[in-house]
Amino acid sequence: MRLSMVMAMDRNKLIGKDGGLPWHLPAELAYFKRVTMGKVLIMGRKTYVSIGKPLPGRVSIVVSASGQLTGEKFEQYLADGRLYLCQSLDDAIQLAQDLTAQLKPDHESGIDDGANVLQHAEAAIIGGAQLCEAAMPQVDRLYLTVIDAEFEGDTWLHSFDESDWQEQSVSNVQLDNLNVAYRVLDRAHRSRSV
Ligand SMILES: NC(=O)c1ccc[n+]([C@@H]2O[C@H](COP(=O)([O-])OP(=O)(O)OC[C@H]3O[C@@H](n4cnc5c(N)ncnc54)[C@H](OP(=O)(O)O)[C@@H]3O)[C@@H](O)[C@H]2O)c1
Repeated sequence: MRLSMVMAMDRNKLIGKDGGLPWHLPAELAYFKRVTMGKVLIMGRKTYVSIGKPLPGRVSIVVSASGQLTGEKFEQYLADGRLYLCQSLDDAIQLAQDLTAQLKPDHESGIDDGANVLQHAEAAIIGGAQLCEAAMPQVDRLYLTVIDAEFEGDTWLHSFDESDWQEQSVSNVQLDNLNVAYRVLDRAHRSRSV
């Protein structure tokens, strides 16, 4: 299974504000939906709380060391198998692997980035910053939306280091007069110095 991460940030690596997103960009959310549809998603407890429910057409694994997840219909979602709760990232990745092996390939989902995404079983880390920091060393591919602007907020993707990654593709668009780059990055394999 390939482990991916799907995140959006501004030019200063800002990703969050007051528990939500710093921007309102429906087209970016549509891109997120396309990339994640049909997949198993792993998220931190605060990100799950901000979304408020399992995302349709996807399986959500929430990581919470405290295990204190509550919310509307929480028990129902667990019973339906749309939501899982894990107390460690390692448990969540193992569960994602098991669940991904059971999912049927959906050729309508994902994006065509020219790198045969659909031939890979792929689970995705979808934030927030705390979970990304723990998961980053294990991530093979990063779907990174970069909004070329400066927003205000309180949460940053400091764990992203450009030098660890090699760009596979980029699509530049304008959303609400903002320059936005949809980047697909794979982990760079550095040659070992002797
Ligand atoms: N721009 C984007 O693409 C994007 C994507 C996602 C989220 N966000 C934003 O990011 C912000 C939330 O990020 P955040 O960093 O504050 O929170 P987060 O990572 O979503 O959640 C943090 C919580 O998740 C649990 N957790 C995280 N890592 C863990 C680990 N390795 N092991 C066990 N439990 C772990 C802990 O839960 P317990 O306290 O229950 O133990 C922790 O308190 C929000 O503003 C959200 O809107 C932005």
